[in-house]
Amino acid sequence: MIEKGICDMAVHFSELGLVNTREMFRKAMEGKYAVPAYNFNNMEQLQAIIMACVECNSPVILQISKGARKYANQTLLRYMVPGAVQMARELGSNIPIALNLDHGDSFELCKACVDNGFSNVMIDGSHLPYEENVALTKKVVEYAHAHDVTVEGELGVLAGIEEHVSSEESHYTKPEEVEDFVSRTGVDSLAISIGTSHGAYKFKLKPGEPLPELRFDILEEIERRLPGFPIVLHGASSVLQEYVEIINKYGGKLENAVGVPEDQIKRAAQSAVCKINIDSDGRLVFTAMVRKYLAENPAEFDPRKYLGAAREELKKMYIRKCELLGSAGKA
Ligand code: G3H
Ligand code: 13P
Ligand code: ZN
Repeated sequence: MIEKGICDMAVHFSELGLVNTREMFRKAMEGKYAVPAYNFNNMEQLQAIIMACVECNSPVILQISKGARKYANQTLLRYMVPGAVQMARELGSNIPIALNLDHGDSFELCKACVDNGFSNVMIDGSHLPYEENVALTKKVVEYAHAHDVTVEGELGVLAGIEEHVSSEESHYTKPEEVEDFVSRTGVDSLAISIGTSHGAYKFKLKPGEPLPELRFDILEEIERRLPGFPIVLHGASSVLQEYVEIINKYGGKLENAVGVPEDQIKRAAQSAVCKINIDSDGRLVFTAMVRKYLAENPAEFDPRKYLGAAREELKKMYIRKCELLGSAGKA
Protein backbone atom coordinates (compact mmCIF):
# COMPACT_ATOMS: atom_id res chain seq x y z
CA MET A 1 0.00 0.00 0.00
CA ILE A 2 1.63 3.20 -1.12
CA GLU A 3 -0.66 5.66 0.57
CA LYS A 4 -2.84 5.41 3.64
CA GLY A 5 -6.48 6.25 2.98
CA ILE A 6 -6.07 6.07 -0.76
CA CYS A 7 -9.43 4.33 -1.40
CA ASP A 8 -11.38 7.00 0.49
CA MET A 9 -9.98 9.67 -1.80
CA ALA A 10 -10.43 7.96 -5.18
CA VAL A 11 -11.59 10.42 -7.81
CA HIS A 12 -11.50 10.64 -11.59
CA PHE A 13 -9.78 13.65 -13.17
CA SER A 14 -12.93 14.63 -15.08
CA GLU A 15 -14.69 15.25 -11.74
CA LEU A 16 -11.99 17.81 -10.92
CA GLY A 17 -12.49 19.81 -14.12
CA LEU A 18 -9.22 18.55 -15.61
CA VAL A 19 -8.44 17.22 -19.08
CA ASN A 20 -5.91 14.66 -20.22
CA THR A 21 -3.20 15.69 -22.68
CA ARG A 22 -4.60 14.08 -25.86
CA GLU A 23 -6.46 17.08 -27.31
CA MET A 24 -3.92 19.56 -25.93
CA PHE A 25 -1.11 17.82 -27.79
CA ARG A 26 -3.12 17.37 -30.99
CA LYS A 27 -3.68 21.14 -31.10
CA ALA A 28 -0.07 21.91 -30.12
CA MET A 29 1.23 19.66 -32.89
CA GLU A 30 -1.10 21.23 -35.42
CA GLY A 31 -0.37 24.80 -34.26
CA LYS A 32 3.39 24.24 -33.90
CA TYR A 33 3.64 25.32 -30.27
CA ALA A 34 4.28 23.57 -26.95
CA VAL A 35 2.14 23.40 -23.82
CA PRO A 36 4.02 24.51 -20.70
CA ALA A 37 4.33 22.00 -17.86
CA TYR A 38 5.04 23.90 -14.67
CA ASN A 39 5.95 22.20 -11.38
CA PHE A 40 4.44 23.42 -8.16
CA ASN A 41 5.02 22.63 -4.50
CA ASN A 42 3.06 25.33 -2.73
CA MET A 43 0.06 27.62 -3.00
CA GLU A 44 1.88 30.69 -4.32
CA GLN A 45 3.44 28.78 -7.21
CA LEU A 46 0.06 27.30 -8.11
CA GLN A 47 -1.67 30.69 -7.92
CA ALA A 48 1.00 32.28 -10.12
CA ILE A 49 0.69 29.54 -12.75
CA ILE A 50 -3.08 29.87 -12.90
CA MET A 51 -3.09 33.68 -12.91
CA ALA A 52 -0.48 33.74 -15.68
CA CYS A 53 -2.15 31.13 -17.90
CA VAL A 54 -5.56 32.75 -17.48
CA GLU A 55 -4.16 36.19 -18.30
CA CYS A 56 -2.40 35.01 -21.47
CA ASN A 57 -5.06 32.42 -22.34
CA SER A 58 -2.75 29.41 -22.40
CA PRO A 59 -3.46 25.72 -21.83
CA VAL A 60 -1.33 24.40 -18.98
CA ILE A 61 -0.05 21.19 -17.44
CA LEU A 62 0.37 21.36 -13.67
CA GLN A 63 3.11 19.04 -12.49
CA ILE A 64 3.60 17.35 -9.16
CA SER A 65 6.79 15.40 -8.50
CA LYS A 66 7.28 12.66 -5.95
CA GLY A 67 9.28 15.21 -3.94
CA ALA A 68 6.39 17.69 -4.10
CA ARG A 69 3.99 15.04 -2.78
CA LYS A 70 6.33 14.40 0.12
CA TYR A 71 6.92 18.09 0.83
CA ALA A 72 3.37 19.40 0.62
CA ASN A 73 1.44 16.19 1.45
CA GLN A 74 -0.15 14.32 -1.43
CA THR A 75 -3.68 14.68 -0.06
CA LEU A 76 -3.40 18.44 0.35
CA LEU A 77 -1.98 18.83 -3.18
CA ARG A 78 -4.76 16.70 -4.62
CA TYR A 79 -7.37 18.98 -3.00
CA MET A 80 -5.57 22.16 -4.09
CA VAL A 81 -5.90 21.27 -7.77
CA PRO A 82 -9.71 21.49 -8.07
CA GLY A 83 -9.38 24.76 -6.16
CA ALA A 84 -7.00 25.99 -8.84
CA VAL A 85 -9.39 24.92 -11.60
CA GLN A 86 -12.21 26.78 -9.84
CA MET A 87 -9.97 29.82 -9.42
CA ALA A 88 -9.34 29.89 -13.18
CA ARG A 89 -13.11 29.74 -13.81
CA GLU A 90 -13.71 32.56 -11.32
CA LEU A 91 -11.10 34.63 -13.14
CA GLY A 92 -13.42 34.19 -16.12
CA SER A 93 -11.49 31.60 -18.08
CA ASN A 94 -12.01 28.05 -19.23
CA ILE A 95 -8.38 27.23 -20.07
CA PRO A 96 -7.63 23.50 -20.40
CA ILE A 97 -5.75 22.30 -17.32
CA ALA A 98 -4.07 18.89 -17.01
CA LEU A 99 -2.48 17.42 -13.90
CA ASN A 100 0.66 15.36 -14.41
CA LEU A 101 2.73 13.14 -12.14
CA ASP A 102 6.30 14.22 -12.93
CA HIS A 103 8.92 11.42 -12.99
CA GLY A 104 6.78 8.64 -11.59
CA ASP A 105 9.15 5.83 -10.64
CA SER A 106 6.87 2.85 -9.99
CA PHE A 107 3.60 1.30 -11.14
CA GLU A 108 2.19 1.74 -7.63
CA LEU A 109 2.85 5.48 -7.58
CA CYS A 110 1.37 5.95 -11.07
CA LYS A 111 -1.69 3.90 -10.09
CA ALA A 112 -2.16 5.96 -6.92
CA CYS A 113 -2.10 9.13 -9.01
CA VAL A 114 -4.53 7.76 -11.62
CA ASP A 115 -6.86 6.83 -8.74
CA ASN A 116 -6.50 10.30 -7.25
CA GLY A 117 -7.44 12.58 -10.09
CA PHE A 118 -4.27 12.98 -12.14
CA SER A 119 -5.07 13.23 -15.85
CA ASN A 120 -1.58 12.32 -17.12
CA VAL A 121 1.19 10.32 -15.50
CA MET A 122 4.83 10.10 -16.44
CA ILE A 123 6.47 6.75 -15.87
CA ASP A 124 10.20 7.33 -15.96
CA GLY A 125 11.87 4.02 -16.66
CA SER A 126 14.67 5.69 -18.60
CA HIS A 127 17.38 4.46 -16.22
CA LEU A 128 16.22 0.82 -16.55
CA PRO A 129 17.47 -1.68 -19.13
CA TYR A 130 15.40 -1.20 -22.30
CA GLU A 131 13.17 -4.29 -21.94
CA GLU A 132 12.40 -3.43 -18.30
CA ASN A 133 11.50 0.12 -19.31
CA VAL A 134 9.12 -1.29 -21.97
CA ALA A 135 7.50 -3.72 -19.51
CA LEU A 136 7.00 -1.15 -16.74
CA THR A 137 5.73 1.55 -19.10
CA LYS A 138 3.30 -0.88 -20.77
CA LYS A 139 1.88 -1.90 -17.39
CA VAL A 140 1.29 1.74 -16.44
CA VAL A 141 -0.30 2.48 -19.85
CA GLU A 142 -2.73 -0.44 -19.50
CA TYR A 143 -3.94 0.77 -16.11
CA ALA A 144 -4.00 4.47 -17.00
CA HIS A 145 -5.77 4.05 -20.34
CA ALA A 146 -8.52 2.03 -18.65
CA HIS A 147 -9.23 5.31 -16.81
CA ASP A 148 -8.67 7.58 -19.84
CA VAL A 149 -5.49 8.92 -18.25
CA THR A 150 -2.69 9.65 -20.74
CA VAL A 151 0.88 8.48 -20.18
CA GLU A 152 4.33 9.94 -20.85
CA GLY A 153 7.28 7.55 -21.15
CA GLU A 154 10.98 8.33 -21.44
CA LEU A 155 13.89 7.06 -23.48
CA GLY A 156 17.37 8.43 -22.92
CA VAL A 157 18.76 9.79 -19.69
CA LEU A 158 19.10 13.41 -18.58
CA ALA A 159 21.76 14.45 -16.09
CA GLY A 160 20.62 15.81 -12.75
CA ILE A 161 17.97 13.75 -11.03
CA GLU A 162 18.40 10.98 -13.60
CA GLU A 163 22.13 10.66 -13.30
CA HIS A 164 22.31 6.88 -13.28
CA VAL A 165 24.25 6.49 -16.50
CA SER A 166 27.95 7.22 -16.75
CA SER A 167 28.77 7.38 -20.49
CA GLU A 168 28.18 10.77 -22.11
CA GLU A 169 26.81 9.44 -25.41
CA SER A 170 24.36 7.01 -23.80
CA HIS A 171 22.54 10.00 -22.27
CA TYR A 172 21.00 10.85 -25.60
CA THR A 173 17.88 9.09 -26.83
CA LYS A 174 18.67 6.49 -29.48
CA PRO A 175 16.32 7.28 -32.40
CA GLU A 176 16.41 3.64 -33.53
CA GLU A 177 14.56 2.64 -30.34
CA VAL A 178 11.63 5.07 -30.45
CA GLU A 179 9.25 3.31 -32.86
CA ASP A 180 9.57 0.00 -31.04
CA PHE A 181 9.12 1.68 -27.64
CA VAL A 182 6.07 3.69 -28.61
CA SER A 183 4.31 0.83 -30.42
CA ARG A 184 4.99 -1.76 -27.71
CA THR A 185 4.10 0.45 -24.73
CA GLY A 186 1.22 2.50 -26.17
CA VAL A 187 2.45 5.73 -24.55
CA ASP A 188 0.78 8.99 -25.54
CA SER A 189 3.95 11.09 -25.44
CA LEU A 190 7.67 10.47 -25.21
CA ALA A 191 10.29 12.39 -23.23
CA ILE A 192 13.65 12.42 -24.96
CA SER A 193 17.18 13.40 -24.10
CA ILE A 194 18.84 15.81 -26.54
CA GLY A 195 21.28 17.60 -24.26
CA THR A 196 19.15 19.24 -21.58
CA SER A 197 19.49 18.38 -17.91
CA HIS A 198 17.59 19.18 -14.73
CA GLY A 199 18.47 22.02 -12.40
CA ALA A 200 20.33 25.33 -12.69
CA TYR A 201 23.73 24.03 -13.85
CA LYS A 202 23.01 22.55 -17.25
CA PHE A 203 26.36 23.01 -18.96
CA LYS A 204 29.90 23.08 -17.62
CA LEU A 205 31.62 25.76 -19.68
CA LYS A 206 35.27 26.72 -19.86
CA PRO A 207 35.89 30.51 -19.63
CA GLY A 208 34.69 32.19 -22.85
CA GLU A 209 33.15 28.99 -24.22
CA PRO A 210 29.69 29.51 -25.83
CA LEU A 211 26.64 27.54 -24.75
CA PRO A 212 26.31 24.31 -26.74
CA GLU A 213 23.38 23.63 -29.10
CA LEU A 214 20.83 21.01 -28.17
CA ARG A 215 20.96 17.92 -30.41
CA PHE A 216 18.26 19.03 -32.85
CA ASP A 217 19.58 16.40 -35.25
CA ILE A 218 18.40 13.66 -32.85
CA LEU A 219 15.03 15.38 -32.44
CA GLU A 220 14.61 15.60 -36.23
CA GLU A 221 15.44 11.92 -36.65
CA ILE A 222 12.86 11.05 -33.98
CA GLU A 223 10.26 13.24 -35.73
CA ARG A 224 11.01 11.43 -38.98
CA ARG A 225 10.51 8.04 -37.34
CA LEU A 226 7.40 9.07 -35.35
CA PRO A 227 5.50 11.52 -37.57
CA GLY A 228 2.95 13.55 -35.62
CA PHE A 229 3.83 11.95 -32.28
CA PRO A 230 4.04 14.28 -29.22
CA ILE A 231 7.56 14.68 -27.83
CA VAL A 232 8.37 16.05 -24.36
CA LEU A 233 11.37 18.15 -23.37
CA HIS A 234 12.53 17.99 -19.76
CA GLY A 235 15.17 20.20 -18.22
CA ALA A 236 14.02 23.16 -20.30
CA SER A 237 14.63 26.05 -17.90
CA SER A 238 16.69 28.88 -19.35
CA VAL A 239 18.13 29.77 -15.91
CA LEU A 240 17.24 33.40 -16.52
CA GLN A 241 20.32 35.42 -15.63
CA GLU A 242 18.47 38.46 -14.31
CA TYR A 243 17.14 36.33 -11.45
CA VAL A 244 20.48 34.61 -10.83
CA GLU A 245 21.97 38.12 -10.53
CA ILE A 246 19.32 39.21 -8.01
CA ILE A 247 19.95 36.08 -5.94
CA ASN A 248 23.70 36.73 -5.92
CA LYS A 249 23.25 40.45 -5.24
CA TYR A 250 21.17 39.75 -2.15
CA GLY A 251 23.40 37.21 -0.44
CA GLY A 252 22.99 34.11 -2.63
CA LYS A 253 25.81 32.12 -4.13
CA LEU A 254 24.91 30.61 -7.48
CA GLU A 255 28.09 30.30 -9.49
CA ASN A 256 28.08 29.43 -13.20
CA ALA A 257 24.34 28.72 -13.25
CA VAL A 258 23.31 28.35 -16.91
CA GLY A 259 20.34 26.96 -18.79
CA VAL A 260 19.03 26.42 -22.31
CA PRO A 261 18.93 29.71 -24.27
CA GLU A 262 15.42 30.90 -25.03
CA ASP A 263 15.90 30.80 -28.81
CA GLN A 264 16.57 27.05 -28.60
CA ILE A 265 13.47 26.52 -26.45
CA LYS A 266 11.44 28.46 -29.02
CA ARG A 267 12.84 26.31 -31.83
CA ALA A 268 11.97 23.11 -29.92
CA ALA A 269 8.43 24.37 -29.24
CA GLN A 270 7.84 24.78 -32.98
CA SER A 271 8.79 21.15 -33.62
CA ALA A 272 7.09 17.91 -32.51
CA VAL A 273 7.87 18.91 -28.93
CA CYS A 274 4.38 19.45 -27.48
CA LYS A 275 5.23 19.66 -23.75
CA ILE A 276 8.06 21.68 -22.21
CA ASN A 277 8.93 21.16 -18.54
CA ILE A 278 9.96 24.15 -16.46
CA ASP A 279 10.70 24.03 -12.76
CA SER A 280 14.09 25.59 -12.03
CA ASP A 281 13.23 28.99 -13.54
CA GLY A 282 10.31 29.21 -11.11
CA ARG A 283 12.56 28.31 -8.20
CA LEU A 284 15.04 31.02 -9.20
CA VAL A 285 12.35 33.71 -9.49
CA PHE A 286 10.88 32.72 -6.13
CA THR A 287 14.23 32.78 -4.35
CA ALA A 288 15.32 36.03 -6.02
CA MET A 289 12.19 37.91 -5.00
CA VAL A 290 12.11 36.61 -1.43
CA ARG A 291 15.79 37.48 -0.95
CA LYS A 292 15.30 40.94 -2.45
CA TYR A 293 12.15 41.71 -0.50
CA LEU A 294 13.59 40.69 2.84
CA ALA A 295 16.86 42.53 2.20
CA GLU A 296 15.00 45.73 1.29
CA ASN A 297 12.39 45.39 4.04
CA PRO A 298 14.28 44.05 7.05
CA ALA A 299 11.50 44.94 9.48
CA GLU A 300 8.84 43.01 7.56
CA PHE A 301 7.73 39.68 8.98
CA ASP A 302 4.40 39.04 7.26
CA PRO A 303 4.92 36.06 4.89
CA ARG A 304 2.18 37.45 2.63
CA LYS A 305 4.45 40.36 1.79
CA TYR A 306 7.51 38.46 0.61
CA LEU A 307 5.62 35.46 -0.77
CA GLY A 308 3.26 37.89 -2.50
CA ALA A 309 6.24 39.64 -4.13
CA ALA A 310 7.52 36.26 -5.33
CA ARG A 311 4.08 35.30 -6.65
CA GLU A 312 3.76 38.54 -8.63
CA GLU A 313 7.13 38.10 -10.35
CA LEU A 314 6.48 34.38 -10.95
CA LYS A 315 3.30 35.26 -12.77
CA LYS A 316 5.24 37.58 -15.11
CA MET A 317 7.84 34.90 -15.76
CA TYR A 318 5.18 32.28 -16.58
CA ILE A 319 3.53 34.66 -19.06
CA ARG A 320 6.94 35.20 -20.68
CA LYS A 321 7.31 31.40 -20.98
CA CYS A 322 3.85 30.92 -22.49
CA GLU A 323 4.69 33.57 -25.08
CA LEU A 324 8.02 31.90 -25.85
CA LEU A 325 6.42 28.48 -26.22
CA GLY A 326 3.66 29.90 -28.41
CA SER A 327 0.91 28.58 -26.11
CA ALA A 328 -0.33 32.09 -25.19
CA GLY A 329 -3.68 32.72 -26.86
CA LYS A 330 -4.17 29.01 -27.64
CA ALA A 331 -6.48 27.96 -24.77
O1 G3H B 1 12.39 17.02 -12.92
C1 G3H B 1 12.45 17.38 -11.74
C2 G3H B 1 11.59 18.46 -11.26
O2 G3H B 1 12.29 19.68 -11.31
C3 G3H B 1 11.09 18.15 -9.88
O3 G3H B 1 12.09 18.29 -8.93
O4 G3H B 1 11.92 16.18 -7.59
O5 G3H B 1 13.00 18.26 -6.64
O6 G3H B 1 10.51 18.14 -6.99
P1 G3H B 1 11.86 17.69 -7.46
P1 13P C 1 14.26 22.29 -15.17
O1 13P C 1 15.10 21.86 -13.99
O2 13P C 1 15.13 22.66 -16.32
O3 13P C 1 13.29 23.33 -14.83
O4 13P C 1 13.44 20.99 -15.66
C1 13P C 1 12.26 20.61 -14.99
C2 13P C 1 11.77 19.27 -15.40
O5 13P C 1 12.20 18.67 -16.36
C3 13P C 1 10.68 18.70 -14.60
O6 13P C 1 10.37 17.40 -14.99
ZN1 ZN D 1 12.05 16.25 -15.69
